[in-house]
Amino acid sequence: MTFYQMVSQGPAVPWPFVLAIVILGVMIRRRYLSPISNIPGPFLGSFSSFWKIQQILNGHTEEQMLALHREHGDFVRIADNEVSVGHPDAVKQLLHAKIAKGRWYEVFSIPDYRFVSQMSETDPQRHIEKGKNVAAGYALSNIIKSEPYVDDIVRALKTQLDKLSASESDDQPAHLDRWFNYFAFDVVGEVTFSRSFGFVQAGIDIGGAIANARHLSVYVSIMGHFIWLHNLTLGNPLLSTLGLIPASHLFDTCVAAVEARKKNPDTRSDMMARWLSVRDHPEREVFAAAVTNVGAGAETVSASLQTFVYYLLRNPVYLERLRKEIDAAQARGELSPVLQYSEAQKLPYLQACIKEAYRYHSPIGTNLPRVVPKGGLTIQGRYFQEGTILSVNIWVIHRNPQLFGPDSNSFNPERWLDRERAKEMDYFLVHWGAGYNQCPGRNLAHFEINKLTATLIRDYDFELMEPNKEWSFRNTFITTQCDWPCKVQRRSLA
Ligand code: HEM
Repeated sequence: MTFYQMVSQGPAVPWPFVLAIVILGVMIRRRYLSPISNIPGPFLGSFSSFWKIQQILNGHTEEQMLALHREHGDFVRIADNEVSVGHPDAVKQLLHAKIAKGRWYEVFSIPDYRFVSQMSETDPQRHIEKGKNVAAGYALSNIIKSEPYVDDIVRALKTQLDKLSASESDDQPAHLDRWFNYFAFDVVGEVTFSRSFGFVQAGIDIGGAIANARHLSVYVSIMGHFIWLHNLTLGNPLLSTLGLIPASHLFDTCVAAVEARKKNPDTRSDMMARWLSVRDHPEREVFAAAVTNVGAGAETVSASLQTFVYYLLRNPVYLERLRKEIDAAQARGELSPVLQYSEAQKLPYLQACIKEAYRYHSPIGTNLPRVVPKGGLTIQGRYFQEGTILSVNIWVIHRNPQLFGPDSNSFNPERWLDRERAKEMDYFLVHWGAGYNQCPGRNLAHFEINKLTATLIRDYDFELMEPNKEWSFRNTFITTQCDWPCKVQRRSLA
């Protein structure tokens, strides 16, 4: 009896058995007969995306990718059709190249596939068009106009820290992970919608919006691998219209902010205003861009702020040198009560510390996937055929000793002080990504990080309450750190 006859006779062959045979066949074909079969990597990754999903759930893809590239070299197969590329050439050939992003990004159309943002647009040409429509809003010249309003948020944060400083009790530590999150969300609100969300002032995660965004981050990181399923289920326009999906919380936050903005007589020339002023810019696209800002522009900034403070506290020599630079500028009368961006820019040691924070702990910790275009792609003599996903992990590039020196695994801002060396390293400092997908929010992020770090280092002493304990963080795409409470003490300035 042939296999077909066995199957067609129905009950004689139970369907689970047939299914198991089919799955086994697919696994064997992917594992042994794929053009990337000879690339080493974890077993689960040789026939499925499950290894990647397992890492997202474990929360440390960056650690695994560093270990795998150390073990196997430049190429590691991490899914049935995906190879992680650790060689520095990946920066030019994948990140800078005008090639399509993997379908994983489509999940960032929030709440559903009708709302395609710059982030979720995978086609390079359409992406570039979308980028042009929002560029003016993200320009530094536009961001700077919001400086007095961002100063208000810095002042509100200082008021909260002053209260903690005045408290005698150790039961009231400063959880800077939370405060920096509140700060970054409020700044995104102020710059995008002319109104802060009010987290800093309230001192709490109003309505659980931040907690919700974190759950959403796990969901999108996983479901990006099953985009067809997402589109059929929680990414289905029907559900989002009924407000029944996890994304809708972020979506609702933005709807509320847009509505409030319409009624706000003090609305400025904020990002939305710049985006709406672009001719033929569909309103749905403007809205999608605003949602992406809230989703992409707060946790990332908070992660960098935390890295900056935490690693300086763990490396007091660098903290002392930074202090000296800031205190000297203060004594010369060059600094405002809330540092202005232009003032912070003139502090070279501060700039080195910020760069090192970007390098040492990139807020984006999972691989950035790109699709090999027509004609294939050769990297380091290895040919990849069209359609293969090649991805880059920023941590793997940033921790490469050939690029950043033998101490690339240590936090050392002073590697940036030599200008010539810094110029060479700059090309490989890809915390913003690179090429046409480079982070459009980088001006805003760098602006607020400069202002807040310099102001806080000048005005406060922080001390880790558990100096022998490392912080913890989870990486589901954006890294979110926690568990590093500090004592905070107001400094008296000269
Ligand atoms: C330290 C802070 C930040 C870091 C490290 C960062 C990093 C990144 C990276 C690496 C990407 C590119 C991912 C890829 O190639 O797929 C990206 C994209 C993006 N970021 Fe940021 N980001 C930060 C802050 C912000 C802020 C403040 C905003 C907006 C307010 C923002 C908005 C976006 C958007 C809209 C995209 C999608 C762009 C695209 O796909 O073309 N980011 N970010």
